[in-house]
Amino acid sequence: MKKEITRRNFVNRTIGASAGVFVLPALTGFTKQERTKGIKPLIITSHTNDTGQKAIETGWEILKNGGSAVDAVEKAANIIELDAEDTSVGYGGLPNENGVVQLDSSFMDGKTYSAGAVACLENIKTPSSVARIVMQHTDHVLLVGAGALQFAKAWGFQEENLLTEKARKIWLRWKEELSPTDDWGVPEHLQNLKKNESYWHDFPDIEHHYGTTNVLAIDMNGDIAGCTTTSGLSFKINGRVGDSPIIGAGLYVDNEVGAAGATGRGEDVIKSCASYYIVLKMKEGRTPQQACEDALQMIVDRYRKVNPDFFPGEKFVAINKYGDLGCATMKGNRKPQMSVRVDKGFSRYDGKIAFEGK
Ligand code: GLY
Repeated sequence: MKKEITRRNFVNRTIGASAGVFVLPALTGFTKQERTKGIKPLIITSHTNDTGQKAIETGWEILKNGGSAVDAVEKAANIIELDAEDTSVGYGGLPNENGVVQLDSSFMDGKTYSAGAVACLENIKTPSSVARIVMQHTDHVLLVGAGALQFAKAWGFQEENLLTEKARKIWLRWKEELSPTDDWGVPEHLQNLKKNESYWHDFPDIEHHYGTTNVLAIDMNGDIAGCTTTSGLSFKINGRVGDSPIIGAGLYVDNEVGAAGATGRGEDVIKSCASYYIVLKMKEGRTPQQACEDALQMIVDRYRKVNPDFFPGEKFVAINKYGDLGCATMKGNRKPQMSVRVDKGFSRYDGKIAFEGK
């Protein structure tokens, strides 16, 4: 008898029955009655500038007209990715050490338990849209580098130069500043005059950051979706992948609980599976605010054993399915915030500095 080759039995035959599969468990635990209590559309982003506001107003238009959280999140993330002035996300993001912009993004749909992501994607302005297609049109979760680009082109995305003049000049200045023992920079006999270079005035401080954005939304049906998108650590080693495209690290979404996203030093977020941890904590009954702080405490506790003075710079945002909010950073001078849009209007939510004064 001819046996139909489905994707599942093809994979089982190919990899053999003994191969282990590690799957993060679904975080169910609330009753249906609880689920339907107080659900309202909601969209948030970790971006607190004007573009962040414009982004979630765009997402809100979709949500208030009954559109899906997945659509709202994608359209909102695209606004931030396309902002050429923003040096941390999408087009205009700061490049890697070779001057090449490599973008990371992930998408997760809490209703279907589907996820998609791209890493080290070059020449495509809106990596979140590619991540969404990986999620909805493949049986994979993460595509990287040349394969991710080939996939994006197959779906009609146009290759474009992502390195803006501003980002290129910041990168060149970084290269000149990097080391006194290499040959980048003005000739030695003119070094005391180098501050006459125009970009020293235009960019007095070299930006060196992990800037990223998270967008999380709940639609009228109570379905939850999220996206994290970034150009990653500025001047990173070619090929470095941060937390943003790693499901469970830079993003995690579960309809039965809520959603969480991370910005900041991706290396810490990957090792701590921070977004998954936050959603797990919410499932255990912690509020989104408490869960964000729990994740920071967990990271600090681990580093404390090897270096008590090290406080990494993460910011976490979270929502639960009831629309409660959370936002926390490790340390800093300013309270962390996130932008929020609900039916009452736009607002900025003040989070907490978890280790203020320590
Ligand atoms: N959180 C962004 C990055 O580390 O790449």
